[in-house]
Amino acid sequence: MKLAVVEGDGIGKEVIPATIEVLDSLGLDIEKIPVELGYGKWERTGSAITDEDISVMKSCDCVLFGAVTTPPDPNYKSVLLTIRKELDMYANIRPIHPLPPVKGIHERNDFNFIIVRENTEGLYSGIEDIGSDVSTTTRVITRKGSKRIADYACKLAKNRMNKLTIVHKSNVIKSDKLFLDVCRQAATDEGILYMDELVDSFAYKLISSPWNYDVIVTTNLFGDILSDMSGALVGGLGLLPSANIGDRYAFFEPVHGSAPDIAGRNIANPIAAILSLKMLLEWHGNIAEAAIVEEALDTALNMGVCTPDLGGRNTTSEVGNLIAKYISTRME
Ligand code: NAI
Ligand code: MG
Repeated sequence: MKLAVVEGDGIGKEVIPATIEVLDSLGLDIEKIPVELGYGKWERTGSAITDEDISVMKSCDCVLFGAVTTPPDPNYKSVLLTIRKELDMYANIRPIHPLPPVKGIHERNDFNFIIVRENTEGLYSGIEDIGSDVSTTTRVITRKGSKRIADYACKLAKNRMNKLTIVHKSNVIKSDKLFLDVCRQAATDEGILYMDELVDSFAYKLISSPWNYDVIVTTNLFGDILSDMSGALVGGLGLLPSANIGDRYAFFEPVHGSAPDIAGRNIANPIAAILSLKMLLEWHGNIAEAAIVEEALDTALNMGVCTPDLGGRNTTSEVGNLIAKYISTRME
């Protein structure tokens, strides 16, 4: 496998090296190609991402990504939006389930759902007109974009509980009617039981009764917000992995950002990044290796190995190192 490795900014520079140590312990035949992207590169060179960076990523089988800082500067084009669009990775998959013994906000831990977030359009269309008195952002919903994310979610639902929740705001935002109609039709065609929910009341339902949901499909911004919110269900943002999938390319990254408030201290939780590696291995067909990563992670957590966000005393690199050591011993 040829793997592009992007650390990015802030804690990306800490959680990715810890994750690479875990990857290396598996002894797989992987060629790693480092790619520098992000705010740091922008400050240094004047561009956060170049055409060359995109071509390097396209030449690899997939990408492992940390996080980048995006300053609120109208002249700064989001690196992630650029990558998701250039590589046309339309499905953002965010699995959410507890990692015992870590506690989230509920005593119950019998929930396991996946947010399937449309990744290329919606309010993240990048079509903006920024003025001093009026600023607008165009929210784009297309039939094609809605259909392919709906099909992706239906395929996932078929392999799970045959149940789909479509989340939208079509009562007020009329562009969502197209999204809703296309999702309903796709679910009907595939024989999937579906219901639809308005995003505001759904946020309440999801955080208070997550065990009622399985596959959730929604538009770009709603998926972004609902998944960060769901971090509270599992015990923190440092635990949520994600995959960005298209027809040709795939890209794996933690849900969290560059966390400037804790960056540079070696205390960031690397678990979200390590679970993103696990998703990468599954996607690539390394099912046994993915299972070993999960087993090692569970063992570490059960032994109390964790970073301060989970109440532990370990550093980012220690967590990566102990998981890698467990794997090396297990593979002997
Ligand atoms: P954030 O996810 O970076 O941080 C939110 C809070 O969660 C912070 O208090 C942080 O310390 C904590 N946190 C996040 N990940 C953690 C981890 N692994 N271990 C322990 N604590 C963790 O979101 P925020 O603060 O809104 O954004 C910071 C920067 O990251 C911004 O420039 C934003 O644009 C960027 N960002 C980048 C993303 C990406 O590269 N995929 C995604 C989200 C934000
Ligand atoms: Mg986010």
